[in-house]
Amino acid sequence: MKKWYAVIGDPIEQSMSPAMHDEWFQENGIDASYLPIHVKADHLENAIESLKRLGCSGWNVTVPHKSAIIPFIDKLDESARRMNAVNTVKVLEDGTLYGTNTDGRGFVRSLQEIGCVSGKIDEVLIIGAGGAANGISFALEAAGFGPLSFTNRTVDKAQQLAANFKDGAALSLSDAESSISKFGLIVQTTSVGMNFAQSGMPMNPNGIADGTVVSDIIYNPLETEFLRTARDSGGNIINGIGMFVHQGALAFELWTGVYPDTKKMITSISTKLG
Ligand code: ATR
Repeated sequence: MKKWYAVIGDPIEQSMSPAMHDEWFQENGIDASYLPIHVKADHLENAIESLKRLGCSGWNVTVPHKSAIIPFIDKLDESARRMNAVNTVKVLEDGTLYGTNTDGRGFVRSLQEIGCVSGKIDEVLIIGAGGAANGISFALEAAGFGPLSFTNRTVDKAQQLAANFKDGAALSLSDAESSISKFGLIVQTTSVGMNFAQSGMPMNPNGIADGTVVSDIIYNPLETEFLRTARDSGGNIINGIGMFVHQGALAFELWTGVYPDTKKMITSISTKLG
């Protein structure tokens, strides 16, 4: 029987996941489809029951359901537990639900794809201390990156997050700016710079060492003011498309056993958004 997959969220029209997964199914000769499903917060439980009854093999979860779905998942892996958020569900043979979170690992894969590996990087700076920062930091540590330093508008939250990591440190934004040249990898995880709604930069990356890898998980716009400033200061910049594509590729691999072509996908999405 033809398998089908989905992404649930509210809103959902803007999601690029259906086109991405459909292209990968085609490329790999897999007879399956992937549907965007609009699910309002108070319909989540019913929606999950319907997905199961209708034979959905797995689905992605996006805003605002990533944490709310947790009580309905039978088996959570460590990444989902640690982030308190699920972005990928697989329906197991016995009909139970397995939930994971591929966002952090997707981020690390996107770095590795451009040659940024733990052996080449010493100090890492994470900007932000929310859910995205947590997931990314956990995956960075698991991949051998570190030590990790955290900076955030609300320093208390950076301190709380730093306490979860070996040699984790918290810095004020101004201390992070004045010590910026010591970091080999800088990861911007806040929503500052997204669209026009939140213009500006969470901190100024001016003064980074030449060749520092500077990443922003935002991909709309493709180049935030933060990334542009980092590039002008000699940084090797990477936007959030790689993370988006690799989190999807990890979900695709969980469902099908195949890790799809990410490079081509990153280029085609960049062209579309550019
Ligand atoms: P996510 O899951 O996307 O990480 P989140 O958990 O709400 O979302 O975290 C948002 C992060 O962006 C936080 O680090 C937040 O800083 P505070 O902890 O000080 O709130 C940061 N952030 C959001 N808007 C910001 C702004 N205008 N300036 C600076 N930081 C901002």
